Amino acid sequence: MRQGHAHQLVVMLGLIGVLALGLGPLAAPARAAEVLVYSARHYGQEAAFEAFTKKTGIQVKMFNGSTGELFERLKAEGERSPADVLLTVDAGNLWNAARAGLLAKIDSPDLAANIPAHLRDPENRWFGLTVRARTIMYNTNKVKPAELSTYEALGDPKWKGRLCLRTSGYIYNQSLLATMIKRHGEAKTEDIARSWAANQPVLINSDTKILEAIAAGQCDVGLTNHYYLARIVAKDPNFPVLPLWANQQTTGTHVNVSGAGIAAHAKNRANAVKLLEFLSSAEAQQMFADLSFEYPANPQAAINPIVAKWGKFKQDDINIASAGEFQAAATRLADRAGYK
Ligand SMILES: [Fe+2]
Repeated sequence: MRQGHAHQLVVMLGLIGVLALGLGPLAAPARAAEVLVYSARHYGQEAAFEAFTKKTGIQVKMFNGSTGELFERLKAEGERSPADVLLTVDAGNLWNAARAGLLAKIDSPDLAANIPAHLRDPENRWFGLTVRARTIMYNTNKVKPAELSTYEALGDPKWKGRLCLRTSGYIYNQSLLATMIKRHGEAKTEDIARSWAANQPVLINSDTKILEAIAAGQCDVGLTNHYYLARIVAKDPNFPVLPLWANQQTTGTHVNVSGAGIAAHAKNRANAVKLLEFLSSAEAQQMFADLSFEYPANPQAAINPIVAKWGKFKQDDINIASAGEFQAAATRLADRAGYK
């Protein structure tokens, strides 16, 4: 409501300005400053967007869709696209959008300072804004944390029949395997995937359902994004599942991002850059990450208390662009390894 009035007021002031200059009715109508965000991220950003509007007077408009829908829409609209920003989840999706020419380069010292290098495109076409760790989850009544160590070790025969995994076709696991390919090469990563498959994992098509299966004793360990557990724990503090930060003695825990880039044909480019810069600031990062139980990408921002309880961990610092770069290779490799 309030935003609507503010919008009208700005339009009125603009018209008064035009009339005062004596340009008459044929002059282009003045428009309120705005940014149109194509968003495939459907939770947690509202407070940060409101804070941005309050600070800058720039209105944020949203067009929501799935990643696939927004990708096709941007391609079909081409130069006529009204989109200024693409906001989506998973670096693999951001990488695909950049490769398809849908995102423009951003030269911003603020973004470069606020977002660690491994969480952004080396060519500055997209920036991670929130971090999600994909790590080992275990049933606290059945498994001691000392029994767990790495992603690789989930292929140990002791986990046969005790492991729950997403299918390999899901982008979160494709991204995990893709960053492993970047780190270890295809042959070693294929061995890891083959050892998981040999443990006959229960394949479940939802991170939340994997956590529920672990709690119910259907399996003892699994791999999920951390925030799905946080959402459950927020409602049920006694939920018998905890994360084990994978690969702390070696490569670090696999992380991915939700992030954003500027649309290649943005009509409000300067305002769009301002929005991304604001979203990367410690102030906005906290709002942006907190509601979705993600980690802020900016290390200066505070972490949600439920998530902070699980302690600090070392992130795999391999550039997350590799999630896109090796996505197709990861899919082929999982097939060869018999990981469905
Ligand atoms: Fe998710």
